[in-house]
Amino acid sequence: MSQPDGQSNTLDNLLEENRTFPPTAEFAAEANATAELYDSAAEDRLGFWSQQARRLTWRTEWNQVLDWSNPPFAKWFVGGELNVAHNCVDRHVEAGNGDRVAIYWEGEPGDSRRITYSDLQREVSKTANALSELGVGSGDRVAIYLPMLPEAVFAMLACARLGALHSVVFGGFSSEALRNRINDAEATVVITCDGQFRRGQAMPLKANVDEAVAGTPSVEHVVVVRRTGTEVAWNPDRDTWWHELVDRQSEQHTPEAFDSEHPLFILYTSGTTGKPKGILHTSGGYLTQAAYTHSTVFDLKPESDVYWCTADIGWVTGHTYIVYGPLANGASQVIYEGTPNTPHQGRHWEIVQKYGVTLYYTAPTTIRTFMKWGSEIPARYDLSTLRVLGTVGEPINPEAWMWYREHIGGGTAPIVDTWWQTETGAIMISPLPGVTATKPGSAQRPVPGVSVGVVDENGNRVGNGEGGLLVLDKPWPSMLRGIWGDQQRFVDTYWSRFAEQGYYFAGDGAKYDNDGDIWLLGRVDDVMNVSGHRISTTEVESALVSHPSVAEAAVVGASDPTTGQGIVAFVIPRGDSAGETTMATLREHVSHEIGPIAKPRQIMVVSELPKTRSGKIMRRLLRDVAENREVGDVSTLADSSVMEQITAGMKSGSGDD
Ligand code: PRX
Repeated sequence: MSQPDGQSNTLDNLLEENRTFPPTAEFAAEANATAELYDSAAEDRLGFWSQQARRLTWRTEWNQVLDWSNPPFAKWFVGGELNVAHNCVDRHVEAGNGDRVAIYWEGEPGDSRRITYSDLQREVSKTANALSELGVGSGDRVAIYLPMLPEAVFAMLACARLGALHSVVFGGFSSEALRNRINDAEATVVITCDGQFRRGQAMPLKANVDEAVAGTPSVEHVVVVRRTGTEVAWNPDRDTWWHELVDRQSEQHTPEAFDSEHPLFILYTSGTTGKPKGILHTSGGYLTQAAYTHSTVFDLKPESDVYWCTADIGWVTGHTYIVYGPLANGASQVIYEGTPNTPHQGRHWEIVQKYGVTLYYTAPTTIRTFMKWGSEIPARYDLSTLRVLGTVGEPINPEAWMWYREHIGGGTAPIVDTWWQTETGAIMISPLPGVTATKPGSAQRPVPGVSVGVVDENGNRVGNGEGGLLVLDKPWPSMLRGIWGDQQRFVDTYWSRFAEQGYYFAGDGAKYDNDGDIWLLGRVDDVMNVSGHRISTTEVESALVSHPSVAEAAVVGASDPTTGQGIVAFVIPRGDSAGETTMATLREHVSHEIGPIAKPRQIMVVSELPKTRSGKIMRRLLRDVAENREVGDVSTLADSSVMEQITAGMKSGSGDD
């Protein structure tokens, strides 16, 4: 409940949204998931997960679904054995689907590759044989520092096939970041490429690896994919070309079955402080939830759908919803190497048209960028094949949601707003497209089998119409199994806040609306406190974006002598917005949408917002600007010059009325 005295850490519920969009009768009639799924999961949760695990092919059946005797260390499908790569590749070939396209790969310069499941089986087998030759075996760690190339998928699956752990490091990270991650995991092999195409240019990549491995004692081999043909430095004792090593290997490789709890990968995610956390995921439970959610949330029909997730393979979305979920389900999918505006701003829609993409999954930040570029761009392409749209990574503002539905989804495609984290491994909260009457901006309900709560500071569930902290109150199959090399940090970071209740604390604020649907309100570290009201950044940003002249907005609380904090907003105007909107109009608009309490003290017009490479707004840096401090560490920004532009604008006073 809202406590103006600031005693409670819950959030005020300010923004109301009453539009709902039920699925059409035709969609519902054909949907993979029906309303019964919720009932069967509620009746017997573990029995339900046991059903879902049967989507996979197991070498040995489990004898216990869940062992939760030593929380927070869970074991799922205890005693079961499987090979993850066999599940993603070979079994589809064995089932007679070897000629089905697994990957439609589209390079940034316009080259393309079509890889069937039979091709994938050959490539993954050869890569596994190559890694074996380099001495990689079960339990070893392999660092993968590659852009969006098919070889990244082959390498990940080859590791899985051998029982080795991959640690994919996003190709946009620096050599320093790469070195820290290699050292933390003590990887013995690094897989990279000569260079990558970004915005029409060949950018070197191997040079970063050379710099990184100068300080990584564990690395014995560097395998290099040739992509751009750029000249590279070469250390013959350590470096091997992918095509020389892999092409001469046998196309046969017999996968071994591993324990359900055998580690599958490490993926580093930045913490609020200190060194990045190596989030550890294991095999059977992870793959079960990846396959189940990919099938039910996106309504995948493997025989007819063409799926496209635009995330980079270096993020968890790329792991679960490009590699493991879709391939376990035998999907055909597009993988695109480049940026959305190379060579033009319609590139994504051109690709949708070319391949007849039916399911499209992207981030709110990308949708708002498309809004900024203008709706006339997608209007030039045939997008009529699209039948489900997804979003992930941040709260999506209702207006961006409506724009997505109207201009990309033809006014009919259901939108699934999927909430999850690197740590949760797979989708946790999301509408089901054939069941849920969707609401713009709400992730709505946990998927069947998952249990969550919005609670107050004491761990008590808040009521409908109230805000609080999002917790996961029961273990789930794809949950992280710890932080690599630091299980105490795992316990402290996620399980200490509600230790008594045994809840996992996600770090996000959320609220229930009057129907009990969940709305995500951003990271709790970003909550603003204005005259004792706890206001979510998400709600004020959504109110701003609901004005026709605003494409994107970020708000922060800046200290204020009278109100504790005052709201400072940074807005990007919309490409197709007509005329000039005064700052006073926007302030009034927020006041009208939310209430006078949420009226920004100051509004700045900017051309870009500071974002991490995965598209999250770095409000910490905006707070520095708003409070006239020197701007802090910008090393994780996608474009570090953005902060200079914003600070320069702030000093000259532009945009503030
Ligand atoms: O704050 C939530 C936000 O992204 C965080 C997890 O980030 P990461 O581990 O990088 O994984 C992103 C891709 C799964 C969450 O704690 N977040 C993710 N999805 C949503 C979201 N916030 C609101 N709505 C979402 N759908």
